[in-house]
Amino acid sequence: MGNVQHIAVAIDGPAASGKSSAARALAKRLGLIMVNTGTMYRAIAWATIQQGIDPTDTQAVIEMLGRIELSCGVENGFSTVFVDENNPGAALRQTAVNERVSKVAAIAEVRALLVQKQRDYLELGHVVMEGRDIGSVVFPNTPFKIYIDASEEVRAARRAAEGIEDAVGQRDAEDSKRKASPLVVAEGAVKIDTSEMTLEEVVSAILQVLRERGAPEDLLNRA
Ligand code: DC
Repeated sequence: MGNVQHIAVAIDGPAASGKSSAARALAKRLGLIMVNTGTMYRAIAWATIQQGIDPTDTQAVIEMLGRIELSCGVENGFSTVFVDENNPGAALRQTAVNERVSKVAAIAEVRALLVQKQRDYLELGHVVMEGRDIGSVVFPNTPFKIYIDASEEVRAARRAAEGIEDAVGQRDAEDSKRKASPLVVAEGAVKIDTSEMTLEEVVSAILQVLRERGAPEDLLNRA
């Protein structure tokens, strides 16, 4: 397998903690493939809406997985996700998806399918992947693990500024309490609280972790 030479930077954290912005900025600086795994769970939630499926009906969701084709790719360095021929795009951030996504993400079969697709990205190049279980489950052996957090107030304000209705606290509670791969600080992860930090400072802190943990020089020299 061609995996050995590619590195995975794992970024986990609760909703609206700033992990997507950090991952995106890091990807741009180092030329990494940026993989947003929340989008993949959101695509499954979106599909349940399209098909009129109750997201808490585990059996129905599992059956749906057999009917749809979830295609995960890369465009301009960013992960993309299609459900059959459809690119749900901005619809993935709608309130109805926010309300359902933690329910489908709690289903072990959904996670098994998506974790495999997430690991496959490493065949394509160096990746920075953000989500909830990247350091704990998807790439437990990577030395490059970051856990990003921010205060409740800062996170609520960030979401409000986006104008999206999203019960962030409730999603976090569901994501942290579920049995299948809950949100945890992965073993060996470095915690960064972004409440009082600029994006540039967050990226510098992550670069510092990569340096300390032996990321390849040619990669670090791109920064
Ligand atoms: O990162 P996000 O807020 O777009 O993620 C949406 C939901 O997807 C989140 O509430 C829980 C789920 N998720 C997950 O269970 N595991 C991941 N690796 C990424 C997201």
